[in-house]
Amino acid sequence: MPAEPPTSEPTPSPFLEAARGGCPDRVPIWFQRQAGRSLPEYRAVRGSGSITEAILQPELAAEITLQPVRRYGVDAAVLFSDIVTPVHAIGVDIDVVPGIGPVVEQPFRSRADLGRLRPLDPEADTPYVLETIKAVISATDVPLIGFAGAPFTVASYLIEGRPSRTYGATKALMLGDEALWFDLMEALGDLAIASIRSQVNAGARAVQLFDSWAGALTPAHYRRYVLPTSQRVFAELADLNVPRVHFGVGTGELLGLFAEAGADMIGVDWRVPLSEARKRVGGLPVQGNLDPAVVLAGVEPTLAEAREVLGQAGPGGAHVFNLGHGVLPETNPEVLEALVEFVHAEGRTIAEAGLTADGTGDTSNGS
Ligand code: CP3
Repeated sequence: MPAEPPTSEPTPSPFLEAARGGCPDRVPIWFQRQAGRSLPEYRAVRGSGSITEAILQPELAAEITLQPVRRYGVDAAVLFSDIVTPVHAIGVDIDVVPGIGPVVEQPFRSRADLGRLRPLDPEADTPYVLETIKAVISATDVPLIGFAGAPFTVASYLIEGRPSRTYGATKALMLGDEALWFDLMEALGDLAIASIRSQVNAGARAVQLFDSWAGALTPAHYRRYVLPTSQRVFAELADLNVPRVHFGVGTGELLGLFAEAGADMIGVDWRVPLSEARKRVGGLPVQGNLDPAVVLAGVEPTLAEAREVLGQAGPGGAHVFNLGHGVLPETNPEVLEALVEFVHAEGRTIAEAGLTADGTGDTSNGS
């Protein structure tokens, strides 16, 4: 008998199936920011110093990426990196300050600042990211999600110089100097495309574009100043043939426009019930959307709220369970362990039953 030909066919994945609109046997689940300070094993290996230094070390970054996969049994790994990694790699003076977030020494304000954004050459500028990906995929069958920051969200850090509540400087530049704004969007779009393409070529099997702060915009401003660039990013990733996820916070009023940007699946925060979100995204698969703060209340409230999310998602699949934003640092990992077990064991049954008359998704009848 001839030996079986070697097969490079990857293991089937409920996450990839749901992201493509299918209905896997179990509801897939992973958590945004699943690696990080809520995990004691993360705090043990992370050391002091900025996260940007940890990202430079492929062995460490791969270990941190794998920690939540081992602990939780989630259906996807997400690369341990940051949305500011590419701009940092091309020489922008940006660092991620613990407890604050990305901080830029000299914020972008004028046309001269565009000169600080040269094109990204991923092999030369971010070889450590590609090495991390290779180390992760050789250690797990679970698909790895690569990602990039969307142009608007990365621009907001470059322009504000630090996290902002109002995005005042960003909006002032956007509305006050359209030509410069669109040139900045183009440069940051190119960075996202180059970074994501290199991550997929290295082995990432899905990608997520984080436009975390796009929810600060009116629909009209989003449509005019952001949507065209996000559309270009997704279009230029189409040939990679991996599911493309698009996520933002506070984007309830933008979900229809998010769907127009061209992703395969839309990430939804906790403010919009998934049954309503499904309508707004015109039937695309959805990812979300348990309020990350609910997890702080303990196992029972978390599972009750998860039941609600599953009922809202309803029958037919095309749903990836996630939090509506990232895991909060004060989260007890044991609650997330119980949540993964619950969604895997009961998620499909609850979702197929759909919402009950009282809208809670609780079909247990209290008996
Ligand atoms: O899910 C994961 O574990 C993957 C890794 C990941 C990180 N950042 C690691 C990180 C991902 C996907 C990101 C994306 C990211 N980074 C986003 C988009 C997602 C979102 O939350 O909306 C944004 C806005 C950033 C920018 C950023 N980086 C912020 C606002 C912060 C928090 C600062 C703080 O200390 O509270 C970071 C730091 C950061 N990025 C941490 C981690 C694990 C925590 C800091 C650390 O451990 O040093």
